[in-house]
Amino acid sequence: MASTLRLERITKRFGDFVAVDDVTVDIAPGEFTTLVGPSGCGKTTLLNIAAALERPSTGSIVIDGRDMTEFNARERGIAMVFQSYALYPHLTVRQNLGFPLRVQKVPKAEIARRVNEAADLMEIGHLLNRKPRELSGGQRQRVAIGRAVIRPSTVCLLDEPLSNLDAALRVRVRAELKLLFARMGTTTMFVTHDQSEAMTMSDRVVVLKDGKVQQQGAPLEVYRNPANVFVASFIGSPQMNLLPGQLASDDGRPAVKAGALDLGLSAGLAAAAGARSEIILGIRAEDIATTPFANSSKFSARIELVEHLGNSAIMHYRTADGGRILGMEMRDSGVGTGWSGDVHVNLDAVKLFDSKTTAAL
Ligand SMILES: Nc1ncnc2c1ncn2[C@@H]1O[C@H](COP(=O)(O)OP(=O)(O)OP(=O)(O)O)[C@@H](O)[C@H]1O
Ligand SMILES: [Mg+2]
Repeated sequence: MASTLRLERITKRFGDFVAVDDVTVDIAPGEFTTLVGPSGCGKTTLLNIAAALERPSTGSIVIDGRDMTEFNARERGIAMVFQSYALYPHLTVRQNLGFPLRVQKVPKAEIARRVNEAADLMEIGHLLNRKPRELSGGQRQRVAIGRAVIRPSTVCLLDEPLSNLDAALRVRVRAELKLLFARMGTTTMFVTHDQSEAMTMSDRVVVLKDGKVQQQGAPLEVYRNPANVFVASFIGSPQMNLLPGQLASDDGRPAVKAGALDLGLSAGLAAAAGARSEIILGIRAEDIATTPFANSSKFSARIELVEHLGNSAIMHYRTADGGRILGMEMRDSGVGTGWSGDVHVNLDAVKLFDSKTTAAL
């Protein structure tokens, strides 16, 4: 039966510096939760606290409803993959993988079977007789992941385990890992600064900035309804268009103006905006296109640059007043650099943020 992990009101100070600020995260049995945020936001510190490698200044670690703050990693039953993979240099890959099982006195035949399974999974079967120094960074990291997942644990903590893999392998291993964790049903806390990894792998994401939780939720929920401007800009690629704008009215109907954009607002958004005059307008690139949406409004612009992604392309639009806006087109849309004309905005997908607090309205 998988475990629950609760980080309860964790604060961590290093001297005067607050690295983690009153963070509460609840992970349900078997759930894959990802801490995501820019470098220095406190991800590793939180993971180290969960793993008992670091003591919180205040707050508690609760596993299966029991306060484990005073217990060590082994007593907590936690497995961890470190940001800098820590393999035993004098042991072969096979011995490194089998180490956690040998410590537990698992029978030899069973160890051999599970080592082979882990090696297949991480595609390191051909490296079993090598020592860590004979491996590339990515290969070492795969051994470290294999060693963490080989033994049943209450909770598995992974600190940027894919960061040393090349792009193609990273995408393959991330899908494999997701399948593996789903199959094992292990409660997992994963750390990455890569929002696409967080989006694709997680049941739930926790977005951190400056040691504080900005938002928690299912990846698509966070993508669709970012809680503030930071989350809106951090989650999703390309970045959401975020434009300073003013609330106005067009013949008595509520509208928002931002540079060349003049968009009618739904009754719901107009009500949320209230009496504000300044706001920040947020529109994702996929909601800006050269073909109209069901409920759309248009502006004129020129395509200044096209970034081809293969199946789609990111359009860099320039408006007459010099504003820059990102849009997205499918491969065969037929427009390219130098094109100018009407560009459409999906009004159903427009977000508004408070210009002072940056919170979503
Ligand atoms: N032992 C320490 N003493 C003082 N400051 C520390 C210590 N450990 C971490 N910090 C600071 O705490 C903050 C959070 O560090 P942490 O390693 O948790 O960040 P991170 O989110 O894992 O970043 P990265 O993505 O770069 O790995 C950073 O500003 C870091 O400099
Ligand atoms: Mg880190």
